[in-house]
Amino acid sequence: MLIASLKPRTMGGTTNTGLLAYALHRAGYTVGAYDADESLQLAAWARDVDDFPCKVVEADTPAFAETIYPDMDHSAINLVDAGHAENHPDIVDSVLEVADLAIVTCSPTKPDYERLTRPERGTPLAKLIKRSAALRESGEPPATFVLLNRCQAGSNSPKKYGDLLRNGGESGTEPRWSVLSTRIPRREEIASAAGFPCDKRTRKAPYDALVSELTELGCLP
Ligand SMILES: Nc1ncnc2c1ncn2[C@@H]1O[C@H](COP(=O)(O)OP(=O)(O)OP(=O)(O)O)[C@@H](O)[C@H]1O
Ligand SMILES: [Mg+2]
Repeated sequence: MLIASLKPRTMGGTTNTGLLAYALHRAGYTVGAYDADESLQLAAWARDVDDFPCKVVEADTPAFAETIYPDMDHSAINLVDAGHAENHPDIVDSVLEVADLAIVTCSPTKPDYERLTRPERGTPLAKLIKRSAALRESGEPPATFVLLNRCQAGSNSPKKYGDLLRNGGESGTEPRWSVLSTRIPRREEIASAAGFPCDKRTRKAPYDALVSELTELGCLP
C-alpha cells in the first residue's frame, strides 16, 4: 500500500513521515519510503543515520504515478513525503492518483489552518484531493485524515482547530475533514528528530499511538 504524507507548506510533514516510518517498522511492517519533495530532506535523513528503517527513493516528479509507483514493493507499507502542495500541485496530483491513504499534517494555529483551508496563493489541498477522484481507478479520492502536530500540552488550540476542520469551518460550508484523535505534541526532541536516530521515547510514543489508531480505523493491512 501507499500512504501519502501531505501538507500545504512547512508543517512538520517530513518529521511525521520519518517518525511514522520508524513506528511502522517497530510494529513489524516492511516499510518503503519515497521523497517527493524537492528539498529531499527525508532522503537526507535516511542517508545520515544508521537506524532508518528503509532506503528512501528520490521521487520528486509529476510523473510519480507512471514512473515511481509501478516499481514499488506493493506488499510493503510505502510512505511518500510530498512537498509543498501550494507550490508543487503537479507532484501532489500524481501522488494522489495512486495513494491508498493520505495523512495531512496541520498544526493547530491560525496561519497553518488558513494555509490548509484557504491559502492566499495556490489551490486548497481539499480541492486537490477531491479532483484526484477523476484520475483514480476507484473514481473516489483516497481516505484522508488530518494529523494535528506541534500540539502544545494544555492548550485549547488542538480542540479548536480540530473542531473547525471537522465541522467545515465557522460557517459550516467549507470542506469537512476527518481528524485523527492522535495528536503529535510540540516537543524539542521531535523538532530535532529529522537527521537523527529515533532513539528517544518522545520520538516513538506518539507515532506508535498513530499506528494503533490507523490499525483501529482499518487503514493498515
Ligand atoms: N512535533 C514537533 N514539535 C516541535 N517542532 C516540530 C515538530 N515537528 C516538526 N517541528 C519543526 O517544524 C519545522 C518543520 O518541520 P519539517 O521540516 O518536518 O516540515 P515539512 O512540512 O517537511 O517542511 P518543508 O515543507 O520545508 O519540507 C521544523 O523546524 C521542525 O523542527
Ligand atoms: Mg519536508
